[in-house]
Amino acid sequence: MSNDRIRIGMVGGGPGAGIAKAHRMGMRLDNRYALVAGTFSRSPEKSRQAATELGVAEDRVYQDYAQMAREEAAREDGIEVVAIVTPNDSHYPVARAFLEAGIHVVCDKPMTGDLDQARALHELATASGRVFTLTHNYSAYAMVREAARLIRDGVLGEPRIVMVEHASGWAADAVELAPDNKQAAWRLDPAQSGEASLVFDLGTHAHQLLRFVSGLEVTEVSAEMQTCVPERRVFDDAQVQVRLCNGARGTLWASMAATGHEHGLRIRVFGSKASLEWQQMDPHYLTINHPGGRREMLVQGHDGQSEAQARLTRVGLGHPEGFIESFANLYGDVAEAIDRHRESGQTRFDDLPLPTSHDGLLGIRFVQAVGDSHRQQGRWTHV
Ligand SMILES: NC(=O)c1ccc[n+]([C@@H]2O[C@H](COP(=O)([O-])OP(=O)(O)OC[C@H]3O[C@@H](n4cnc5c(N)ncnc54)[C@H](O)[C@@H]3O)[C@@H](O)[C@H]2O)c1
Repeated sequence: MSNDRIRIGMVGGGPGAGIAKAHRMGMRLDNRYALVAGTFSRSPEKSRQAATELGVAEDRVYQDYAQMAREEAAREDGIEVVAIVTPNDSHYPVARAFLEAGIHVVCDKPMTGDLDQARALHELATASGRVFTLTHNYSAYAMVREAARLIRDGVLGEPRIVMVEHASGWAADAVELAPDNKQAAWRLDPAQSGEASLVFDLGTHAHQLLRFVSGLEVTEVSAEMQTCVPERRVFDDAQVQVRLCNGARGTLWASMAATGHEHGLRIRVFGSKASLEWQQMDPHYLTINHPGGRREMLVQGHDGQSEAQARLTRVGLGHPEGFIESFANLYGDVAEAIDRHRESGQTRFDDLPLPTSHDGLLGIRFVQAVGDSHRQQGRWTHV
């Protein structure tokens, strides 16, 4: 591990912003990054306000992301990596500007707002020789890594059925009518986020979790979307039947109208020998169900589990870890990849399970297939 902290910049994450705080806490946890530049908001005043609060020097706060990419790339002490935490429709132009300037990218999900942009960004990221990762942070929970390892080791036998749900209750009421709900304003605006905004937002997390844990690709979908909250202008519930590449079947449920739920992320995989279950609200535990009524509960931090799990347990047995740590785990792997790039100029990190532009492209293809299937009354549609 290099002693030099990695110089990072941020686009988005101004006053009142949502997920940027988790990114910043995640990057601080292992002390491997220094946040030195940013365009924190489209408003220069708010951007400067954020910079002051974050201790970023005035001359490293930019009018817009294009100026930031250009000027940071020209500095000897310029940023090595940028974190993009803006609404979905800007991920493509922002990521593109930094990759073209030779800067590594950590981009929040979904990768882009449409399939053409996803294809173009995947091509660019692959050719760039730079690290590009998406913060599908749920696949960086220790017990999710353990679940994936157990399935690869054959503990469940052949997966037959996969049920994944990201059924949140955050918009079970008309939150878009509140005057100051920054997050609802763009997510629930079809002009900015599309009518399938929910599938971009939560569906892509569930899709990536399903693929990461099961190790299987989604080949076809049959989808139906609905709008539960009256007068809402986007779909707020999506029920998707999926066919997987090994012949297995499953269901992906994404919702923002699951009344009474908080974040509502859960996955179950049923194999020929056993099944497993993990839920984000109780992330330290992984349940394995065996035939004959034998139930095993694996608890994070105990000896005897995989290295994939053990390397992500920071504090130790009995001390709960969760969402912030999952961002720290991702940022830790990104730091590892950047250190290797510093030493060799290569971007080889197949051994680090980071979500890449390939995962991002598959996520957007999934969203597209869900929309196509819905418009054809749930007809089975290739992803
Ligand atoms: N990984 C996760 O678990 C997770 C959770 C929530 C959100 N997200 C993703 O993070 C992204 C941001 O979501 P959020 O809820 O934090 O949104 P938000 O609206 O709270 O924050 C967006 C920020 O970006 C700024 N911004 C917008 N356009 C900009 C531009 N061109 N230049 C500079 N700043 C700009 C806004 O001023 C605001 O500060 C979305 O892509 C969302 O899908 C991921």
